Amino acid sequence: MCEQIDYTTDDDVAVITIDNPPVNALKRGIASSIADSINKANSDDSITGIILIGSGRTFVAGADIAELGQVAAGTIEMSDELPSLLATIEASEKPVVVAIHGNCLGGGMELALACHYRVAVPDAQLGQPEVKIGLIPGAHGTQRLPRLCGIAKAAELCAVGNSISAPQALELGILDSLIETDLLSGAIDYTRNTAIPAGPRKTSELNDLLAGDPDLESSLTTLRENIARKARGQIAPGKAIEAVALAATLSFEEGIASERELFQQCITSPQCQGLIHSFFGHRAVSKIPGITSDTPRQTIEQAAVIGAGTMGGGITTTYINAGIPVTLKEIDQASLDKGLARIRDNYMRSVKRGRFTETEVEERLALITPTLEYADLSTADIIVEAVFESLDLKTKVFSQLDKVAKPNAILASNTSTLDIDKIASSTSRPERVIGHHFFSPANIMKLLEIVRGKETADDVIATSIDLAKRLRKVGVLVGNCFGFLGNRMFMPYLAEAEFLVEEGASITQVDKVLYDFGMAMGPFAVADLAGIDVGWRIEQEVKESLPAGMRRPLVTTKLYEADRYGQKTGTGWYRYEDGRTAVADTEVDALVLETATAAGIEQRTVTDEEILERTIYTLVNEGARLLQDGIALRSVDIDIAYLNGYGFPAVRGGPMKYADMVGLPAVCDRVKAYHDAQGFWWEPAPLLVELAEAGSTFSEYDRQQAQ
Ligand code: NAI
Repeated sequence: MCEQIDYTTDDDVAVITIDNPPVNALKRGIASSIADSINKANSDDSITGIILIGSGRTFVAGADIAELGQVAAGTIEMSDELPSLLATIEASEKPVVVAIHGNCLGGGMELALACHYRVAVPDAQLGQPEVKIGLIPGAHGTQRLPRLCGIAKAAELCAVGNSISAPQALELGILDSLIETDLLSGAIDYTRNTAIPAGPRKTSELNDLLAGDPDLESSLTTLRENIARKARGQIAPGKAIEAVALAATLSFEEGIASERELFQQCITSPQCQGLIHSFFGHRAVSKIPGITSDTPRQTIEQAAVIGAGTMGGGITTTYINAGIPVTLKEIDQASLDKGLARIRDNYMRSVKRGRFTETEVEERLALITPTLEYADLSTADIIVEAVFESLDLKTKVFSQLDKVAKPNAILASNTSTLDIDKIASSTSRPERVIGHHFFSPANIMKLLEIVRGKETADDVIATSIDLAKRLRKVGVLVGNCFGFLGNRMFMPYLAEAEFLVEEGASITQVDKVLYDFGMAMGPFAVADLAGIDVGWRIEQEVKESLPAGMRRPLVTTKLYEADRYGQKTGTGWYRYEDGRTAVADTEVDALVLETATAAGIEQRTVTDEEILERTIYTLVNEGARLLQDGIALRSVDIDIAYLNGYGFPAVRGGPMKYADMVGLPAVCDRVKAYHDAQGFWWEPAPLLVELAEAGSTFSEYDRQQAQ
């Protein structure tokens, strides 16, 4: 027996305790050790019932995902330990009762399903979240769960992956009883009073719920439609439905064999690698070299936001949603009233959708203190500036803040392009200044770029990272440069999309290729949403500093001159019907052709493959430069920023992980080919060349840098 399994007895009841902190993950060795304990209890005549329980704060939160990642990457074989433990449990001659608290997820749930009886504390959570890492339950979960709660519900639980509370699980028939008192003593009573008299009950033999549901087909069709919309392009949810549905027609033995095949298809798919990378990446980004748990943090109890415009309103909403009161400052009463009304309107839309009650909204809005005076900001622990994008204005605002803010307050700017160091230098305390770059709509988009200035203090960074989590954002620490991490990569991506159109691709072709790749929106749809005027203004700003002879997109300027600002004016790259539905516009096609012809750009057929390579490899090449320049700490930071701020598909893991999966030598070859064909802006980043020549990957580079 391994040291993570503890075997004790309470008279005639054996208690097997899993003790593998922090979440009792089923890493190798644990399942076989539990099986040894089950066998030991069975061979002891004084024992009549068995309890399986977790120590610490949870039952079993799942399989070891690092191990699954290695299986997905093909470096180790899948272990059969868990399935064989489940067979041992079911075959036990003495009833096995699982006692659940905390999380009972994934492999932990499958373990519970194989036990003869299930009891739990009311605040336990149960679920099969495997789809979130591109998998389906692979230890009989798809065959046991429908035997407890019916095929339709089991399919939903396995395909969507959300967990349910213990009372919900009781109602669905997954749990047998809730334990309101101490879990172990309640479970012992349950074992003595119910399980031992009734004897073992094999879940695999409960077949009553597998037939006779007249609504099954329509429920599964609705589920498939929802999945196609919400998890576009993902294979695991469909496979999960397929596996669960097989329970209707196959025996348990046949069902688990089919489940195994479907599981194999998932774990060998690149989607699984991408999603596991994303899973660990979301944890990795908050680990900052040089910042430890000993680094001091500021207490954030009160915030202030300057500017109640589009971003200021969204940022205020984000803070009050996290329960942090905000003093909101505007320039005049009319702008303040307008900003407050917009925040309220947004909430009211959520009330209509049933997300909040009106009382909840009023409680949240009561956390806002509107003001027109800088003096009212003197008690804020953090002040977030979101005024117009002008260095002159922002430096004026920051020098005012310097006068009123308390000494250790964090002064954050939401600038999307301006130099944080220049903003910081307008204060007497540049070490308290940092960038907090939210994305629009700020209360919805997950990414928060935390921009470190050259003097930003460690406690300001540490507090910002913690605060991001409290605000339910994904904080990614980046260096200070034009466009920071995300937009610096996105600008050449958008430019490349435009070049492709100038060369003969259609706007809809480019958008479709990237949408089909999995991007939330194609580049032209994004440009129309962000505003052609915004893109044009940024272009005016950058073009001065670009090397001579660098190709620049030509059509954006024409659209700007034609007042086609995108969705907000009803026309841009597309024409918008009913304000929202994008329709291809022949006027724009003509404008593109005219512009390209005037510039002497030869028209040709552009393949989908070229579109994908030129856009995505531009991201990768620029990403490699950001890594080299130290703007991104690690390649995984780029990936996580792109998954949360730019609609990059999670199943691809992010642009850098995608390049790793394609293979850096192949990516680098194509970048070199476009360098030859297009021009110097395609010059391969030295880091990309170095890693490609070494047969390495960006992930490997991250690992080496961490050592
Ligand atoms: P906006 O024009 O909607 O709002 C700016 C607000 O600031 C206005 O309501 C204005 O009255 C107010 N303001 C100006 N001077 C002020 C002062 N001294 N005190 C108090 N309020 C003042 O602009 P938006 O779009 O919200 O942008 C704000 C900042 O956020 C800019 O730096 C922008 O670059 C950045 N940003 C914008 C994004 C977007 O998608 N709109 C995305 C990310 C960052």
